Amino acid sequence: MERDRIAILDFGSQYTQLIARRFRELQVYSEILPPGTKAAALRARRPRGLVLSGGPDSVHDKGSPRPDKGIFELGIPVLGVCYGMQVMSHLLGGDVQRSGKREYGQATFETNGRSRLLSALPAKARVWMSHGDSVRRPPGGFTVVGSSESNAVAAVESADRKLYGIMFHPEVNHSEGGTAVLARFLDLCGCRRDWSSASFTQEAVEAVRAEVGSERVLCALSGGVDSAVAALIVHEAIGDRLTCVFVDNGLLRKDEAAQVKKRFADKLKLKVVSVDASKRFLSRLKGVSDPERKRKIIGKEFIDVFRSTTRRLGKMKFLAQGTLYPDVIESTSVRGPSAVIKSHHNVGGLPKKLGFKLVEPLRELFKDEVRAVGLRLGLDEEFVYRQPFPGPGLAVRCLGPITKEGLDVLREADDVFVKEVKAAGLYRTLWQSFAVLLPVRSVGVMGDDRTYQNTIALRAVDSADGMTADWARLPHELLARVSSRIVNEVRGVNRVVYDVSSKPPSTIEWE
Ligand code: XMP
Repeated sequence: MERDRIAILDFGSQYTQLIARRFRELQVYSEILPPGTKAAALRARRPRGLVLSGGPDSVHDKGSPRPDKGIFELGIPVLGVCYGMQVMSHLLGGDVQRSGKREYGQATFETNGRSRLLSALPAKARVWMSHGDSVRRPPGGFTVVGSSESNAVAAVESADRKLYGIMFHPEVNHSEGGTAVLARFLDLCGCRRDWSSASFTQEAVEAVRAEVGSERVLCALSGGVDSAVAALIVHEAIGDRLTCVFVDNGLLRKDEAAQVKKRFADKLKLKVVSVDASKRFLSRLKGVSDPERKRKIIGKEFIDVFRSTTRRLGKMKFLAQGTLYPDVIESTSVRGPSAVIKSHHNVGGLPKKLGFKLVEPLRELFKDEVRAVGLRLGLDEEFVYRQPFPGPGLAVRCLGPITKEGLDVLREADDVFVKEVKAAGLYRTLWQSFAVLLPVRSVGVMGDDRTYQNTIALRAVDSADGMTADWARLPHELLARVSSRIVNEVRGVNRVVYDVSSKPPSTIEWE
């Protein structure tokens, strides 16, 4: 049976992805498409409803994005949000008044009780609203169904044509009743609610089975969640015809390589070929302190090791990768959302010219959905909710030239910090929390002796996407405990400092 879906045309709002995620949370599959998607192409995808997202432009700007007018004739409900409402009003003959600026903020939205869409909203609701261009007169056949302080016309609809427009963002948490509005839209579209972790896991597995046929698949396990879940889906689909390669580059956290073996080979029964290449990586990195050179060396070594390992494994046609939906939208959308960690960060990626066909079982999924699949397929919560870890690993947290001794000190200190953060119940609320080994030594006293040893910096940040971040206000007692434990338990460290810089202007990692 074909899955009911909602299509969203992306006019460039930072919230577009959030609209898609909200629908999926309401158990309806939704997908994001470029703003100019033709009506015929849309019809072919058979969405039950269509959303026109917000966006930064004015309909009066030259070159501002326009949907194909034919989309209003498809006979499916259309919901325009902010810019989406303005562009719909403008194209259908309404009057949109230009205003010089566009701002977002809290506002009180009032419905007049005559709306089909807004029936679940209270008469007055606090919402997150766009204050910019406004609709002065709606198109013929539309009625005004809501207003606010700054917009006399803050919601319009044409019940006959099933066209709806609202000037607030129902997808953001600060909009009271926002989810109810989206749920009501789904009802007006007649959508079945059948997108669940069970159904999308099963679909992903079946799709891989169909795509791969009787061939073999290779997967590079990075130690992160995405590649792990991609491997599990493929494993579920084709069993032992999947071979995973795990490269220990010597830059991993404490016990990480052993955990990969335990988790994936012993417990989940994946065929994992582990390669201990730590000596080779460390010898190539010897004496190198420039961060970008470190990254380049690590990226190149990884590809070399991966290549020589796979050569021994016999012919494999496919390579499984953990590409997620936000990466797909970013690369296909004309003005796609930018809240994605940029690709120059993807050290550990494999070049196209290796000659594999790609299998990307997570291409349609958001991160939270990937986690749900991982849990379904047997991954433990601790792993599934791991904080991000950079591809070049501890190389960018061991400042200056890297040595085995330095890495060992860093691993121990990092382990103490992370365990204490977990014990304090803060691990999952933080974007990242880790230790950095600084290339400075300072004086201390230990008993009657003077010491001259290393400094560890602790870094903990709050962030939604890694693009911007604020240093986390960790409780002083926690910092005190971590500091005292590190100085007492980790040989070679006599000083611990806490990083209180935000991004920008700093970055999350130190290199
Ligand atoms: P920065 O330090 O640029 O980091 O504020 C933003 C996010 O990206 C991660 N990061 C990396 N990830 N390879 C990666 O795969 C890298 O070279 C890399 N550098 C930074 C960082 O951990 C943070 O989550």
